[in-house]
Amino acid sequence: MSVEPDPGVLEGLDAWEGLSAEQQPSWPDATRLRQVREKLATLPPLVFAGEADALRAKLAAAGRGEAFLLQGGDCAEIFAEATADRIRHKIMTVLQMAVVLTYGASLPVIKMGRMAGQYAKPRSADTETRDGVTLPAFRGDIVNGYAFTPADRTPDPERLLEAYHTSASTLNLIRAFTTGGFASLLRVHEWNRGFTANPAYSRYEEIAAEIDRAIRFMAACGADFDALRAVDFYASHEGLLLDYERPLTRIDSRTGLPYDCSGHFLWIGERTRKLDGAHIDYFSRVQNPLGVKLGPTTTGDEALALMDRLNPNGEPGRLTFITRMGAGLIRDRLPALVEKVTADGRPITWVCDPMHGNGIVSSSGYKTRRFADVIDEVAGFFEVHRALGTVPGGLHIELTGDDVTEVLGGTEEIDEEGLSRRYETRVDPRLNHQQSLELAFQVVELLRRS
Ligand code: PEP
Ligand code: CO
Repeated sequence: MSVEPDPGVLEGLDAWEGLSAEQQPSWPDATRLRQVREKLATLPPLVFAGEADALRAKLAAAGRGEAFLLQGGDCAEIFAEATADRIRHKIMTVLQMAVVLTYGASLPVIKMGRMAGQYAKPRSADTETRDGVTLPAFRGDIVNGYAFTPADRTPDPERLLEAYHTSASTLNLIRAFTTGGFASLLRVHEWNRGFTANPAYSRYEEIAAEIDRAIRFMAACGADFDALRAVDFYASHEGLLLDYERPLTRIDSRTGLPYDCSGHFLWIGERTRKLDGAHIDYFSRVQNPLGVKLGPTTTGDEALALMDRLNPNGEPGRLTFITRMGAGLIRDRLPALVEKVTADGRPITWVCDPMHGNGIVSSSGYKTRRFADVIDEVAGFFEVHRALGTVPGGLHIELTGDDVTEVLGGTEEIDEEGLSRRYETRVDPRLNHQQSLELAFQVVELLRRS
């Protein structure tokens, strides 16, 4: 039996159109935009309401300290890079990190990609000027092209459809890889053994050996490794471009309630979380679990106001705060925020994004981050929550499965010169495969020290 939506619910989904929406492109062709939105609205959902509900329950567990979220992927996915190899490497990286964290935290790890929809980027300026020529800024592959030509930089609504189809093929591969035995615990552990066998990473060999013994112990006890052949892997992206999110929102026939079926989890960025803006209004009306990024200037009252708008009844797992304070500020700014929210009593899942508060520009002009700062922000996150008796619920990481050189440091000691070797990101610098695994092992070390 299907439940019809309340007419007010449907009307409410368009209320954002009357509000100010930050960070939206100026589409030159309104007619084509309308046609594309109509087309998107007829296409099948990319994810299903029941999956979003299952994720909400898991995020609630993370909020209580009974699970841990690992959310990772590109800053900006690129259509041309949605190849089998690149997607596989990214999934492998997240799965490898997850096995290490599962062992280190003794908790189930919720695996989530910044994948299959992470195509839209907020920018600090609407335009970019090079050699006296000014063009629209690159807003992600879902809006315009990266090449600095008028044709590429003009926002093109056809790209919304390309984003949908690229997300569909990415999700197809994610589902195949994570249910077809490729992601089995034994296999992922073998990849980690390969990593720690490299003498450069011998520091982590002991933890890998412990995991090895734990797995052999499980086997001896008769663990059902067949049951560990499949993992749930969720898709998430920043819910930035409302011309994409609105047409992909569907009414769940079980409940008559709307779900944004472009991804399981959507987050609202630091630049678009204005309380009276279009984004908060829109996402308050869909049932998906939501994240909000909180930078170092966020006040406790703002955090409470976000809870009033996005989770007034305090439903566990509905709302995740993803803090991104910077290594230098987290110990100073996070405590007051967590205290205020905790005193309110409505549950929040706290996640640390140790990337976006740690941007620097290298002397050679690259946008980069220091691996040591990333680790230090994670350490600060655990310290603050431990001191307050609250729960550190997960990590939000920009990473790729390839050997890029975008973040300074790590055992390979990528230095300022080294950045130019393979700097590929269009927007923010990502941890490479090795740096991502090192992060996971170092988090285990951090958890042990405490
Ligand atoms: C991002 O996650 O890529 C991003 C732009 O983050 P923030 O909103 O925290 O700056
Ligand atoms: Co980013």
